[in-house]
Amino acid sequence: MRMDIFTLFPEMFSVVLGTSIIGRARRRGFLQVCCHQLRDFSPDRRGRVDDTVFGGGKGMLLAAEPFARGLDSLSEHLGFLPHIIYMSPRGKVLDQQRAKELAELPAVTVLCGHYEGIDQRVLEEYGAEELSIGDYVLTGGELPAMVLLDTMSRMLPGVLADQSCFEEESHFSGLLEYPQYTRPERWRGRAVPEVLLSGDHGKIAAWRKRESLAVTERNRPDLFMKFVEAERKAEDI
Ligand code: ADE
Repeated sequence: MRMDIFTLFPEMFSVVLGTSIIGRARRRGFLQVCCHQLRDFSPDRRGRVDDTVFGGGKGMLLAAEPFARGLDSLSEHLGFLPHIIYMSPRGKVLDQQRAKELAELPAVTVLCGHYEGIDQRVLEEYGAEELSIGDYVLTGGELPAMVLLDTMSRMLPGVLADQSCFEEESHFSGLLEYPQYTRPERWRGRAVPEVLLSGDHGKIAAWRKRESLAVTERNRPDLFMKFVEAERKAEDI
């Protein structure tokens, strides 16, 4: 998959792009990431990309034209216009399901806002999907873009050694993950739950399911209700 990112701060991405699973996915050719400096597409000779907000209000807004020039040049280069995402606290909240769907596309392009955001018209012109990473406001779209890149990368075929790596974990099945333990069996007086040492795979699976249900009900009653509803529906069919 290919991801293009339009940002005022491409240097923010360099460590993330070179490290751990994302670094390896890029080196192995599963993932191509291109960061574009938005100022390079400014119609202004000095590279200005922002302006004041019509109707009043504090702060500056990123103008439509630099993004439009960047996107046009990208689609000319690729021969098609990728799906465009604008990271914004106003967007639909990103979840595992949407990340998985996006990871199945050949290319996505991410627009990072800064200051007060981006001129609405460029989002409409290019049909951008607005995505948020949670109900809080960050200083810009760069960290959210990295979050999106990270979660999508690990679902690309071949990136993780084993598909079950993410099929087992929190959010994939609609439940949060059960507790896990490694050596030593006893640490600061705390023992690993007996059942996990029993070698009885049926019992272990049942314990993990019970723990998943309990942690989901405790920490995320919204997900718990959704899961219970879905199970009830499945039983009715
Ligand atoms: N930009 C600023 N805050 C954001 C958020 N919560 N999600 C996505 N993009 C953002």
